[in-house]
Amino acid sequence: MLQVRRYTADDCDDTIAIFLAAIREVASRDYGPAEIEAWAKVEDRAAWAERRASRPTFIIEHAGHPIGFSDLEPNGHLDMMFVHPAHQGIGAASLLLAKVEEEAKKLGIGRIFTEASLTARPFFERRGFTVIARQSVEKRGQRLTNFRMEKYISATALS
Ligand SMILES: CC(C)(COP(=O)(O)OP(=O)(O)OC[C@H]1O[C@@H](n2cnc3c(N)ncnc32)[C@H](O)[C@@H]1OP(=O)(O)O)[C@@H](O)C(=O)NCCC(=O)NCCS
Repeated sequence: MLQVRRYTADDCDDTIAIFLAAIREVASRDYGPAEIEAWAKVEDRAAWAERRASRPTFIIEHAGHPIGFSDLEPNGHLDMMFVHPAHQGIGAASLLLAKVEEEAKKLGIGRIFTEASLTARPFFERRGFTVIARQSVEKRGQRLTNFRMEKYISATALS
């Protein structure tokens, strides 16, 4: 039922819709309305498409429809991890993370790091990430709390 595949240019609008819905309907339980309003915005579709295509990006499908996505930058930065509200808690983010870790091993990246939202922190902790620091980041005039987190992975674990 759940399948992970590579992002293609045709996925651009689905990733935007998933991003906006995940913030508005899921992260909204941990952030205030003004913070959600500031975060849930994609002002430049072309820039978004360029960022998604510029690094390994993975789409997870449920019954053939995109329900989540994640990515991995060359320095080990995991920028995005978003799952559609209608498909939370069924292991989609876990499968995406497994794929990201597999990709990191292939690329010889030994450490994955991210800025996890208040909402995503428990997920990343359950999957072996540790908090480096709590931080407050500025987004369109609002200050949002998130956590710098990291996970060391062993290249030999891929077998
Ligand atoms: C965080 C998020 C990506 C998790 O996606 P998901 O597909 O529901 O996660 P999974 O089903 O793979 O859950 C994996 C594990 O994490 C746990 N988990 C996930 N979210 C959790 C939460 N908020 N609190 C506690 N545990 C949580 C699950 O119980 C599960 O544990 P287990 O399988 O070991 O029992 C999703 O909730 C989301 O999109 N959130 C809103 C957007 C967001 O904040 N994204 C991150 C930006 S940094």
